[in-house]
Amino acid sequence: MDERTADVVILGAGPAGLVLANLLRRDGVDCVVLERADREHVQTRARAGFLAANSVRVLDRHGLSAGLHERGHTHHTCEFRTEEGRFRLDYSGLGLGEQHTVYPQQHLVTDLLAQFLDSGGQVRFGAEALAVHDADGERPSVSVREGDGTTTRWRARYVAGCDGRHGAARTALPPTTRYQHRDHQVSWLGLLVEAPPSLDAVGYAVHPRGFAGHMARTATTTRYYLQCERGTPADAWSEERIWEELDLRMGAQKYGPLHRGPVIQRTVVDLQSDLLEPLRHGSLLLAGDAASLLSPSAAKGANLAILEAELLAGALADDLLRADPRGLDTYSERCLPYIHRAQAFSRWMIDLLHGPEGRDPAPAPPRGWPRADLASLRDSRAEQDWFAEHYVGV
Ligand code: APR
Repeated sequence: MDERTADVVILGAGPAGLVLANLLRRDGVDCVVLERADREHVQTRARAGFLAANSVRVLDRHGLSAGLHERGHTHHTCEFRTEEGRFRLDYSGLGLGEQHTVYPQQHLVTDLLAQFLDSGGQVRFGAEALAVHDADGERPSVSVREGDGTTTRWRARYVAGCDGRHGAARTALPPTTRYQHRDHQVSWLGLLVEAPPSLDAVGYAVHPRGFAGHMARTATTTRYYLQCERGTPADAWSEERIWEELDLRMGAQKYGPLHRGPVIQRTVVDLQSDLLEPLRHGSLLLAGDAASLLSPSAAKGANLAILEAELLAGALADDLLRADPRGLDTYSERCLPYIHRAQAFSRWMIDLLHGPEGRDPAPAPPRGWPRADLASLRDSRAEQDWFAEHYVGV
């Protein structure tokens, strides 16, 4: 078997892996990124799109933000709709006064990849990590099926598991790792539509037929979500039905029509969250979705991944270049409070957008409609400040 070495072997070329790779490379740490998919797939996969102010600061700090400042746009308003009415929150004037930058994740990944490769970084596409070996020792290794079908063994000093929820890093953890998983009992049909955004705000519609969401992506594409029954296949709904449901739940008749266009990507997301604790097992360190899965209800996944990647890069560089292991020793405990807060807020958003009664699509209208939590968000400045701080923050 072919053997290769790098000080840090990074599994996965998502936001976590690529921010980490860029920061390590800039510091002069020898690293390689192993990515199961091909480059085209990684650069076109539509995912999140809302970057928190802190994520932009991290990317600014390390010279990784030129693309998002050039092509992204800032966003600071969300609108809640029910059958009874609607209200808007301009969160840039609430809480910490921060706003989002809308920049589709695939564009960010494209920028991060280009920057890493241009600086001489090495990414092996089509290279699937099969297993991480000897993670509890000082010379871990990763067996990899390369794109041409051959198997390689990568030896490292550290392995960074940035390979998501179904990657190889998670399977290498010992049974003592604490695993918490939550199924939120809600499913969303996620749609990418080729049409400009229909409103200048994130739209959240809380409707007796189920939740509907509207999120800007670019001038010509928009993300919509429709709560659907668990187990619904992604292609079950015709485009006609999709637009009927979106119109109805978003109150298009009352509040103005939605810009229609072809649905170019669709997936069903079962809202779940989980967490593996600690995030370090010997020489294996977890970041991004590999460490904790977040439901998309508050768009926190990519933002946490960026924050963790920065912490991990600093800790690895301190250890490898300055023989200072303290950053790695405390990596897990420094990340966990951010993860706990993001998960708590994401859960709160799920309850706000569906409500305990609303988790069943097409339930009887909840009692006391409009709901008390929405009403206090509409009316209470203290509640709005709290919301804004957590909604944009990580
Ligand atoms: N070997 C190599 N690569 C792998 C393997 C494997 N065994 N398994 C998965 N991968 C790759 C995937 O193909 C993917 O490109 O790991 C990468 C993980 O990237 P993301 O799923 O984007 O995860 P992460 O970098 O943690 O991003 C965090 O952004 O939009 C959100 O939902 C997304 O919350 C997630 C976040």
